Amino acid sequence: MKNISPHIFNKAVIREEIDLKALNSFQVATSARYFADVNDVEQLKLLMQQSVARDHKTLILGGGSNILFSSYFNGLVTKVSIPGIELVSEDDKYVWVKAGAGVNWHAFVQFCLKQNYAGVENLSLIPGSVGAAPIQNIGAYGIEVEQVFSQLEALDRNSGKLRQFDKKDCRFAYRDSVFKNELKNQFIITSVTLKLNKTPELNLNYGAINQTLDEMNVKNPTIQDVSEAVCRIRMSKLPDPAVLGNSGSFFKNPVIHGSDFQALNKKFPKMPHYELDDGRIKIPAGWLIEKVGWKGRTIGKTGTHKKQALVIVNYGGATGKEIYDFAMQVQQAIKEKFGITLMPEVNVV
Ligand code: EPU
Repeated sequence: MKNISPHIFNKAVIREEIDLKALNSFQVATSARYFADVNDVEQLKLLMQQSVARDHKTLILGGGSNILFSSYFNGLVTKVSIPGIELVSEDDKYVWVKAGAGVNWHAFVQFCLKQNYAGVENLSLIPGSVGAAPIQNIGAYGIEVEQVFSQLEALDRNSGKLRQFDKKDCRFAYRDSVFKNELKNQFIITSVTLKLNKTPELNLNYGAINQTLDEMNVKNPTIQDVSEAVCRIRMSKLPDPAVLGNSGSFFKNPVIHGSDFQALNKKFPKMPHYELDDGRIKIPAGWLIEKVGWKGRTIGKTGTHKKQALVIVNYGGATGKEIYDFAMQVQQAIKEKFGITLMPEVNVV
């Protein structure tokens, strides 16, 4: 690791050959040719004007919890660490809370729980940063971030100017937004504002939440109780990335047309499924993986988790390529049995 004087500017320093292992939750050992960690918008603007940013491919890193480095990164990795949480507005019913892109998502949830701001309790314990949350429209236990989203601010890499995006601009969908499609790599999110409820409207319908609240002996749950229940469910099923490298769900749950589902359902009558508003059918990828016998299967240093087949784990020392190759074998097995192509939810670079 060394600092190189021509690239030193303002407070942000571009460093060379940085080890990324501690910066990705898969704990894949790889490195980046250039690396910078920025704490404010002005630093970020300056950094993007540097030739090292303009002349090389760049990658924006938040918490590193939804990324698989399949090889050496021959470009600039920029970690966005912009801090801060502030109340920007309120009325009788709602509060608008703005958080810097670098704020840890769960720390943000905890802030809201402490202030009694409702709406993100079901999204407790999701790894990653606030800035990454809208990109893939994070979701869990019946809630997606779009439901509480108000607006975000992002740096336009072409013009060097900040632009506001409202909900419509973001084109949210299941684990998807404009930032994964038309505007991919063009904007860097610097802050996100969420609209939270002063009066909780609890969403307890998803799977085990009610049952877990019963086990906790909670009769009239608060948002803090719901958060506690979600944390318990997550900890019982999902491996802690600090202990066992992983990036949560590796694949998205596939969404298929109703007619395709009818045909599949004849062959596999027990296939769990959820009907979406547009009539299409979402199938849990974890179930498909389990059905082809790949739940808990290990090849070398990688495998599917034994409690949640959708999570691929690094048992220690797996390379990004090994993990990716394993994932492709899972994909192939599902394709052969069900004719469905699972698409990675994790960003593979
Ligand atoms: N299932 C199995 N076997 C498995 C895993 C799941 O049969 O090994 C079936 C079960 O029928 C279960 C159903 O799949 O009822 C759904 O499983 P689960 O509730 O665990 O949720 P998921 O669909 O596998 C999604 C998100 C998770 C999120 C949970 C809870 C995606 C890609 N994943 O998983 O998000 O925590 O719901 O809401 O949508 C993430 O994105 O990284 C993530 C962990």
